[in-house]
Amino acid sequence: MCGISGYIGKNNATKILVENLEKLEYRGYDSSGLCLYKNKDFKVIKSLGSISKLKEKVKNIDEDFAIGIGHTRWATHGKPSQKNAHPHLSNNKKIAVVHNGIIENYKQLKNQLICENFFFNSDTDTEVISNLLEKYFRTNFIETINIVLNKLKGSFALAILNKDEDKIYFAKNKSPLYIGIGKDEVQLTSDISTFFGKLESYIILEDGEFGSVSSKNIEIFDKNMRKINKKPIKLEKEYKNTCLLNEKYYMSKEINEIPNVLKNELISLNNLKNKIDKNLFLNINSIEIIACGTAYHAGLMGSYFIEKNCRIPCHVFIASEFKYSNPILSKNNLYVFISQSGETADTISCAELVKNFGCKTLAFTNVEHCTLNNIVDFVIPICAGKEVAVASTKAFTCQVFAMLFFSHILANDYDEFYINNKDVIDNFYIENLLGNFYTEILKFNKIFFVGRQGDYYSCSEASLKLKEITYINCMAISAGELKHGSLALIDGSTLVIVICTNGLIKEKINSNIEEILARGGKVALFTIFEKEDFCDVDYYFKLKNYNDEFNLISSIIPFQQLAFYVSLEKGYNPDKPRNLAKSVTVE
Ligand code: G6P
Repeated sequence: MCGISGYIGKNNATKILVENLEKLEYRGYDSSGLCLYKNKDFKVIKSLGSISKLKEKVKNIDEDFAIGIGHTRWATHGKPSQKNAHPHLSNNKKIAVVHNGIIENYKQLKNQLICENFFFNSDTDTEVISNLLEKYFRTNFIETINIVLNKLKGSFALAILNKDEDKIYFAKNKSPLYIGIGKDEVQLTSDISTFFGKLESYIILEDGEFGSVSSKNIEIFDKNMRKINKKPIKLEKEYKNTCLLNEKYYMSKEINEIPNVLKNELISLNNLKNKIDKNLFLNINSIEIIACGTAYHAGLMGSYFIEKNCRIPCHVFIASEFKYSNPILSKNNLYVFISQSGETADTISCAELVKNFGCKTLAFTNVEHCTLNNIVDFVIPICAGKEVAVASTKAFTCQVFAMLFFSHILANDYDEFYINNKDVIDNFYIENLLGNFYTEILKFNKIFFVGRQGDYYSCSEASLKLKEITYINCMAISAGELKHGSLALIDGSTLVIVICTNGLIKEKINSNIEEILARGGKVALFTIFEKEDFCDVDYYFKLKNYNDEFNLISSIIPFQQLAFYVSLEKGYNPDKPRNLAKSVTVE
């Protein structure tokens, strides 16, 4: 992950870089740093933790800089620490590098450099790049970069300063990088949204491209060192402010936005329905869904809707497993990728693999300008609006709703779907059912989420939310599987949260609850059915009954709220869970 930014122009580089890093903070917030350049000299500022700490530090800088590079880090190689924070300088301190990605052969390169008397100040893979640039230094620095890039294996978006020149050099391979062009300034970024409202046009860099930007000139080379011309694209999209308004946390703001974003999503999907290329799913044998994290759970829910509504076989894969499983690809399958960011490296590499094989591809994403959208044949935007909190909430809801929509497009009964959901969505609002349940759950050592079918997929997402932001060890178990192993863990210190929205399996769920209670476990039941339909449970919560399908979308919300409140109760920042990042751009 990590986010990088570069600035060269007439304005205050320090201020702009910090502002940009704040917007990139969702990509990692273990540490951050800047390298500012003036009169052949560097000023390096690094800070542990969030960008607010860096902001404090740069307040003391009274001189103006016109050139600089910046970085916000999600640690891959080496602990979050001051020494591992970027930028990383070469031994002779003449080259500074910020990097997003992973250099897979860094150990081998580092050992070679150590044999040649280079020393290392950090545990990062990035420091090999600055030292290789020193080792292979040529007056024509583009040549130097070309030599070094040919030695690197892995993924990288790089911004590089060389003390001899008023330029920022850059390179891209498998990590996103964009050049933004303004009136008197040029910027580099990992995410185009940092340009909105500030710059006029942008250039999307492709893998293998590298070059330099100065205040007057942009030079781009392909991997064969051929100079290429890329026409800048006008930045049309308005910059939408994602400030917190009256809310203290993005996560609660984003949960509360769900009713509105669903309304917008239905309008936009309704507009899209006739534009979907029907060839994508003509004569397909099966649908293969590939995603990571929360998006994977949306995929599971999607497969449930597709198989139920269309009777087309559907399989769901974790992206990082799919790629290396020697998958049996077929041009008669449709490959569906779900990704909030459209930048998740595992998902992207699967999309590339499948696309190169000539298969049909479709993506569900939340970001218009993202790498995944450029790979696939067709994109269904999920329209959740910008999601800032690391734990995905409204995007998950919109992903599941978009999958439901898609299943009805495939089933050729869209009109019925629209009628069934229009009123539901128009009248949908968020309740708070939980009372003080969020304090109750702190009494338990183990928490299981249990359900069947679609409810089991909600359990998986509910459990992920809770562990992500409260650090409570919990897991989702398919209710029928309890007796095949996990029941051994049930005792008086176990809370089993049961979700039941499906009338067909209500009795079976009730038997599972009996089995848990018989072993001394405590049960919290979240259901659309009456209390009397079940045996006596310790906590009962009545979910609103919309319709069978929408219940699977609405029933996750109490668990998003639960995770949020427990996180606050434990004194954590729900928006920025430890060790995680919103967008994971490394495999
Ligand atoms: C990270 C985020 C998760 C997200 C996953 C996939 O792990 O912390 O919230 O679900 O990436 O992200 P994507 O952008 O592909 O949906």
